[in-house]
Amino acid sequence: MEISKKSALVTGASRGIGKGIALGLAAEGYVVAVNYVRNLKAAEGVLKEIQQLGSEGLLIQGDVGSSNDRKKMVDETVAEFGKIDLLVNNAGIAPKIRVEILETTEESFDRVLGTNLKAPYFLTQDVSRRMIGWKQSGEVEVPRIVFVTSISAYAGSRNRTEYCISKAGASMAAMSFAMRLAEEGIPVFEVRPGLTQTDMVEKVQDKYDRFIKEGIVPQRRWGYPEDIAKVVRAIARGDLDFSTGEIIEVAGGFSLKEL
Ligand SMILES: NC(=O)c1ccc[n+]([C@@H]2O[C@H](COP(=O)([O-])OP(=O)(O)OC[C@H]3O[C@@H](n4cnc5c(N)ncnc54)[C@H](OP(=O)(O)O)[C@@H]3O)[C@@H](O)[C@H]2O)c1
Repeated sequence: MEISKKSALVTGASRGIGKGIALGLAAEGYVVAVNYVRNLKAAEGVLKEIQQLGSEGLLIQGDVGSSNDRKKMVDETVAEFGKIDLLVNNAGIAPKIRVEILETTEESFDRVLGTNLKAPYFLTQDVSRRMIGWKQSGEVEVPRIVFVTSISAYAGSRNRTEYCISKAGASMAAMSFAMRLAEEGIPVFEVRPGLTQTDMVEKVQDKYDRFIKEGIVPQRRWGYPEDIAKVVRAIARGDLDFSTGEIIEVAGGFSLKEL
């Protein structure tokens, strides 16, 4: 592997938004470590598409919620690519069952927060420590980090509060790393998708179709993984390098309020 090629580690890159980001980065000339947890077939499909785009990839099985797996992911990426120029914390899960706050179980709370908040926090801690070294040695010119959160960081849903809390926490994690890493020359961004057509929202597709029709998304359409990938590509190119800690919402104007 040619060491000078920029490399990215994208968690949860076998499907949905992560897949879109992985392919977008490959098109941008990055070599990409494609993390997945159980869907090898889907991950292999992503690898093939990366190769068709003229880039190279690496498949890494691992549960972001496990500290051993996180370490393995980083070690395997570095063993193959020599360094990580861009970390994209994308992997995320919804609660298995949507229930209101008076019914939330500790098991679901731990599962969702372990994957959506604790995992990106400690993965970023590990990678950013190494990035500081790569930056100092000149191996990486500008290391960059992205947290994929959600409009649920500020828009509550009564029947999946643990998800919303995990995303609100991930938003603060992004801001906290941005503060610490600014002096190291490592920009950190929060990319905040809105309703995006992926497997995650399959079960609520009809409900959200109705909401979109009624105008909850001012631009009146679903988001697609490519919409989020475009923003990550701009970050990866360095177009936003004199910014850090910024929240970039990709949600068709969801946050607009009209009286
Ligand atoms: N879809 C939306 O409307 C929406 C809106 C806002 C924010 N988001 C956020 O965007 C991110 C991606 O969501 P998505 O809609 O693309 O989800 P998705 O279609 O359900 O895909 C989830 C991806 O994450 C991987 N994954 C799940 N648990 C993992 C774990 N413990 N360790 C490693 N990888 C894991 C899956 O791997 P396998 O294929 O191996 O299962 C898959 O690649 C999430 O953080 C989500 O919260 C989504």
